[in-house]
Amino acid sequence: MIRKTRQAKAIKGSITVPGDKSISHRGLLLAAIAEGNTKIHNLSCSADVMSTMNCLKQLNVEINTNVNFWEIAGKGRYGLKESRHLLDCGNSGTTMRLLSGILAAQPFTSTLTGDESLNKRPMKRIIEPLTQMGADITSQSGGLAPLQIHGNKLHSIYYNSPVASAQVKSCVLLAGLYAPGVTTVVEPFLSRDHTERILTDFGINVKRNKLAVSISGGQDLQGCELTVPGDFSSAAFFIGAALITKDSELTIKNICLNPTRTGLLEVLNQMGAKIEISRHENQSSEPVGDITVFSSQLNGVEILPQLVPKLIDEIPILAIIATKARGTTTLSGAKELRVKESDRLHAIVRNLSLMDIEVEENEDGFIIAGPQKLKGATINSYGDHRIAMAFAIAGLIAEREIQLINADCVEVSMPDFFETLQGISCG
Ligand code: S3P
Repeated sequence: MIRKTRQAKAIKGSITVPGDKSISHRGLLLAAIAEGNTKIHNLSCSADVMSTMNCLKQLNVEINTNVNFWEIAGKGRYGLKESRHLLDCGNSGTTMRLLSGILAAQPFTSTLTGDESLNKRPMKRIIEPLTQMGADITSQSGGLAPLQIHGNKLHSIYYNSPVASAQVKSCVLLAGLYAPGVTTVVEPFLSRDHTERILTDFGINVKRNKLAVSISGGQDLQGCELTVPGDFSSAAFFIGAALITKDSELTIKNICLNPTRTGLLEVLNQMGAKIEISRHENQSSEPVGDITVFSSQLNGVEILPQLVPKLIDEIPILAIIATKARGTTTLSGAKELRVKESDRLHAIVRNLSLMDIEVEENEDGFIIAGPQKLKGATINSYGDHRIAMAFAIAGLIAEREIQLINADCVEVSMPDFFETLQGISCG
């Protein structure tokens, strides 16, 4: 699908965004292996989360929808059944990497595959620790999916992860539930901690010591009732939209404000953004609140490597924001962006260049000197939802319209993205 975007005079209104994608995946996966039923309110109905749901259904998990919530009939840790079909994870790295941690310990064989993008993304990062735990996994050359996982008895490990990745950490922790003894994962920097938090909702004891997180094997999960807060990563595009368009005031309600996710707010604060947060409360084990954003005069900023895991999915929209800030914005330590749904550093730099923006691409980041004017252009999303959404926001302030090729990939995380954007765009 090709989408044409038009300028907006202002962004105004009050919106909600769908439930957090990361938390939704985890809620479904843990509910599937819990004892008893789990109810989940405000589950994301993105294509990625549907991939997790469909894989679980194929593993014999019963999941039903009601008007207000989803209900999952937990099978217990060993109650999943071998699937007769390939488990299709679609575009979702979280589905493939987290589910692998559970399947590595089941008494049957599973084959996980994905779309063209997912089958090119690195899986060695989970194969290595799972193999250390005793898992038997066959991959394609270079450690790529499809993965064949022959379930095995696992043993606990102490794992020093070379990457700050919540998917790797979560995969090992889930496998750790099946391994006698204590499994520990240490990360170079703290990544999102939703798994650690949601495990406690299911009655699991998790211990944190700075960058190390430990779990004891053999614990049973208890079904529970969860409410998923709004997805900060989806909200980020609308935050960006309100900041860079004139005369804007936008409130986004009920957003997850977990500090391991809100690095963007820290950076925007340094850039001088006018953002107010109100109504702090807890929903299940996550902090939530309402965010009000006003058009702001921004200054360039240096984004340090230790902050990158806390804003990893917000870098595409941050790049668009940086084009309007006064002074230089520098990003480094973000090599991980090259192995996301697309090579996001390349996609950002190439598309900004097409819009006549001067931007320097580095191996692990970029340098953008602002403010610059964005020209209209034909933009390729590279099939990557976050690239599509970031450049749709750029279209609000571009001098001429943007033609966004392959725009339907927004369904991966936020199917109603364009409708929501239209609803708050004035003029
Ligand atoms: C996610 C972790 C991050 C993030 C992804 C979702 C998760 O990936 O980019 O969109 O739900 O755990 P990495 O673990 O590869 O950093």
